Amino acid sequence: MSCTWRKYLLYFAQEHVDFRFAEIHSLLSLFQIPMRFVEQPVPLQPYWVVEFNSEENIKLLASRSVSLRSCLELWGHASNVEDLHKNLKILPNSVYESHLQSNKTFKIAVQSFCKHLTQSDKLEKIQTFGYLPFKGEVKLDEPDTHLQYIEYYGTNSNNPPEKPYHVFFGRLITSGFRQLIRQISLKTRKFIGNTSMDPQLSLLMANQAKVNPGDLVLDPFVGSGSLLVAAAHFGGYVMGTDIDFLMLHGKSRPSRIKQKKRAEDESIKANMEQYGLCDKYIDVLVNDFAMPFWKDCLKFDSIITDPPYGIREATEKVGIHRENYTISEEHLPTHIPAKVEYEFSQLYNDLLSFSAKHLRLGGRLVCWFPVFREDYTEEGLPTNSCLQLIANKPTEINGESRKTIADFRNKYFKARDETRRERRTKQAAIREQNRLQALERRGRNCEK
Ligand SMILES: C[S@@+](CC[C@H](N)C(=O)[O-])C[C@H]1O[C@@H](n2cnc3c(N)ncnc32)[C@H](O)[C@@H]1O
Repeated sequence: MSCTWRKYLLYFAQEHVDFRFAEIHSLLSLFQIPMRFVEQPVPLQPYWVVEFNSEENIKLLASRSVSLRSCLELWGHASNVEDLHKNLKILPNSVYESHLQSNKTFKIAVQSFCKHLTQSDKLEKIQTFGYLPFKGEVKLDEPDTHLQYIEYYGTNSNNPPEKPYHVFFGRLITSGFRQLIRQISLKTRKFIGNTSMDPQLSLLMANQAKVNPGDLVLDPFVGSGSLLVAAAHFGGYVMGTDIDFLMLHGKSRPSRIKQKKRAEDESIKANMEQYGLCDKYIDVLVNDFAMPFWKDCLKFDSIITDPPYGIREATEKVGIHRENYTISEEHLPTHIPAKVEYEFSQLYNDLLSFSAKHLRLGGRLVCWFPVFREDYTEEGLPTNSCLQLIANKPTEINGESRKTIADFRNKYFKARDETRRERRTKQAAIREQNRLQALERRGRNCEK
């Protein structure tokens, strides 16, 4: 079957720019949509000029993408306004004929990137398109044909040029799925924790994991379950584990400044109910990731997670430094196990080995990996012979193979200067010093 490739503009939101490539490429591969670049994209520019062979494919892509703002069928684009009008004037009738008929309502909207345009500026610009053979009536609300004119003024909003660097004109095909970001906002979510993942990032991760309806998805460091919310929205059956009993039972200290006490019914399940996702929620279980309890044969379609990195929550696992430690029978039922430091490198080795074992072939692990931005190199990332790194820098998109690690992104934080054990030893030394000083003072008082 022959297919016609047409030019389209993908217009992106200028947020989490680094994840744009990884998200779009994951979705293209998920839906097996072919796409060709007409112009090589420039990382900070909010648009890509591309070709697709079907409008349905673009709608499918946009129905999942949270980095995509809108998508236009490109009727013209140029590096200046004059050339754009010249191009539009020689546009073959076949491109616009069916959209400008007398029974079709239309509107033209103006958007600018990095420069504010007043309403009268916009009106003036709309009037310059008067030569297009519109026959129908103008309708501002839900017209049959929604045309957009976009002016790109670079990325420095403090000092935009007088004239745009690039201009685009086309028919709006569809918008991205960005309304979901607001819908699952942390501000209105029933149960959140100190490290709840931002909704947009959660959705980006779920898209990178290529979560499909019916998939089985695990977050082994689940916390308040933000990543489960995102994966469930895309149809995944979700489950999680965490070492923190209080968090999973909704009994940890509240994270909202004005909240003194958590409500009785705060939990990950309550979040799922809030978003109508109960049918996608399997459960969460208290488990130390260093001692996973899963049967070997259990396979997940994806593992999406944000492991602890020792800043806002400790990296710890069940254990004790004392040798030959035993607990008496009577204390066993109420015993709360001691914890020791879970070394960062060990945690990631465990995560990769676990994923190699429990991901189905082709399944993805999408996780955060904290690095120093300055001395970051791909070689510094953990590896596992069964897993292939798919994306960790947005511009590097490799092919997909068996099991895959996707997007070890930076967390841009300051690494710990000292380990938990070092911190504890230091605090103990200070306490000991204070105790000795107090004893000394008491001794001196007695002598007097
Ligand atoms: C960065 S938080 C995850 C936040 C989560 N994505 C959310 O949206 O709330 C890391 C979580 O790992 C948990 N954790 C720390 N050590 C663990 C271990 N050894 N096994 C399982 N979970 C652990 C912490 O209790 C914490 O909830």
